[in-house]
Amino acid sequence: MLPEVTATRYVTPLREGGSLPGIVEADDLGTYVMKFTGAGQGRKTLVAEVICGQLGRRLGLRVPDLVRIQLDPVIGLAEPDEEVQDLLKASGGLNLGMDYLPGSLGFDPLAFGVGPAEAGHVVWFDALIGNVDRSWRNPNMLVWHGRLWLIDHGATMIWHHSWRGADAVAAKPYDASDHALAPFDPDVAAAAEALAPRVTEELLTEVAADVPDEWLVDEPGFDSPDAVRRRYVELLLERAATISGRITLGDQRPPNGDKPSQAPEWLRIWVEGKASE
Ligand SMILES: Nc1ncnc2c1ncn2[C@@H]1O[C@H](COP(=O)(O)OP(=O)(O)O)[C@@H](O)[C@H]1O
Ligand SMILES: [Mg+2]
Repeated sequence: MLPEVTATRYVTPLREGGSLPGIVEADDLGTYVMKFTGAGQGRKTLVAEVICGQLGRRLGLRVPDLVRIQLDPVIGLAEPDEEVQDLLKASGGLNLGMDYLPGSLGFDPLAFGVGPAEAGHVVWFDALIGNVDRSWRNPNMLVWHGRLWLIDHGATMIWHHSWRGADAVAAKPYDASDHALAPFDPDVAAAAEALAPRVTEELLTEVAADVPDEWLVDEPGFDSPDAVRRRYVELLLERAATISGRITLGDQRPPNGDKPSQAPEWLRIWVEGKASE
């Protein structure tokens, strides 16, 4: 089970993405990025964060630690923003926290290079979990202490929004041509060879056990939280076996090739200055 803490202070909202997570402090003196049960996509986003975050870490990818966070909405009473107030009020009880990485920077392909082996691992993992949210527009990766960290697995396993079509999941291809690491020559075949055998039923069962029952009860078509967990396990297991053959990488060039940079002007000037020093 994930460790459980209680939020003691709401610090500030994070507005980069869509779901309005907040930075909170907790009674273990930790600082966390909190994902709220009352946010738009609801509890499925949190289920995806837990299963994919835990799975990624068990496969050797860097994902900040996850915790369960108890929230009493009164801690947000002084928060002036009405949207935040509403979110807190709708999220009393159990929520999800991710260890906050202080001083981390959003991944920028121009300022941070990734080798083919690591890029391959991330792309293969994203293909496995059907991550549609790691594009160069919105990489959902951070650079912290000189290393790449993966965050935000809320928009993965989209099949869990409609279980009836889930039988086709194993065969569903993954288009990585838009992936933030596609230009880094990802060695997907090597990643599949290294990672696929590690995605066992046992590992997936352990990972699914970390999802709190509260987020799985009363799922239409299932008679218990464990039945839902089993379905996640089955689908990921099937997908792990064959996904590498169905990943499309497109023809993105490495950064500094002829693809126009997406980096802001100030960063380009800084990087070019460094290069000519
Ligand atoms: N663990 C973390 N440490 C530091 N900053 C984070 C962390 N998690 C998220 N952030 C910042 O908050 C932003 C929004 O978080 P994210 O998980 O991507 O949620 P969403 O995109 O759903 O709003 C990220 O783009 C990143 O800048
Ligand atoms: Mg995001």
